[in-house]
Amino acid sequence: MAAEDQHSDKTLWRYHAPASMDRVQLAMWSELLEKRTGICLAENRKSFLLTSLSTRMRELGYDSYDAYFQYLITGRCGAIEWEILVDKLTVHESRFYRDPHALALIQDQFLPELSSKLGRLKNKQQKSIDIWSLGCATGEEAYSLAMLVEDFMLNNNLDGYYSITATDISSAALSTARKGIFHINRLKNVPARLINLFFNSEDQDHYRVVEKLRRRICFARLNSLHLSRARLGMMDLIYCQNVLIYFKRRYRHMMLDQIVKYLRPNGVLILGAGEISDWRHTEMEAVNYSGTLAFKRIQGEFQS
Ligand SMILES: C[S@@+](CC[C@H](N)C(=O)[O-])C[C@H]1O[C@@H](n2cnc3c(N)ncnc32)[C@H](O)[C@@H]1O
Repeated sequence: MAAEDQHSDKTLWRYHAPASMDRVQLAMWSELLEKRTGICLAENRKSFLLTSLSTRMRELGYDSYDAYFQYLITGRCGAIEWEILVDKLTVHESRFYRDPHALALIQDQFLPELSSKLGRLKNKQQKSIDIWSLGCATGEEAYSLAMLVEDFMLNNNLDGYYSITATDISSAALSTARKGIFHINRLKNVPARLINLFFNSEDQDHYRVVEKLRRRICFARLNSLHLSRARLGMMDLIYCQNVLIYFKRRYRHMMLDQIVKYLRPNGVLILGAGEISDWRHTEMEAVNYSGTLAFKRIQGEFQS
């Protein structure tokens, strides 16, 4: 048996090296990815592209990049296939409580300020905190935000309402997110107290986020390149981390300019520290909080 052959219980798995791709083909695929997602394929990610494409092509029985490309850009079947492929071409790495500085900013500054404002409102219907996790992958970020807000409300006896909209381009990642079931190893960063409060044991190795939190989050497919067409309400907090890094500068700026339109006056935008250095917006001022990159929408006379 060839060295690359491996046995599992019933199936024979064979490693297939991806076919090589010439420069013209590579340019064509990179352009398609960039046009449709904003993602810029770095030179050192070429092997990732080839492996992802050839895995999917094998599943469909294609042995030519060009034939698969034509299939992908044609008609309804192509559009459905694109949804599947885009999941393979995007990186969904995420963790609970991934950025402690950004979460501390929310806990120490954002939530106290907002809850004092909400406390002054007479109408209970208006007492809502609306949060958007953009590029939420498999949900760890959105659930972390939900735990933070829920815990804050419990500790401060607040009876307000909050909702989290969590969007991503990958349907497969969103479907994992909606289930809210995570392997125990993925909960390492979650304080034990919060695991007790917000997770139920699903089986020996898995925990599920409690329904009370799951109900607060709406996971939806949204391409961040199409934000101007998105039907979203106004937000108090937009959390967008580890997404912009995959985009070319002009897409980053375009996306951030669109995001601002979804922020309420005094609403806060939190990005990953160091993810962008040259973006400015006339309606946004920098928030000074150690280890974070955040902006607040200036209260003024503008249409929201
Ligand atoms: C590395 S994950 C970040 C997950 C999470 N924000 C975090 O920091 O843990 C990047 C996510 O961005 C999503 N993404 C990439 N391009 C996108 C686009 N054009 N529109 C929406 N989501 C996109 C990917 O599908 C992926 O789930």
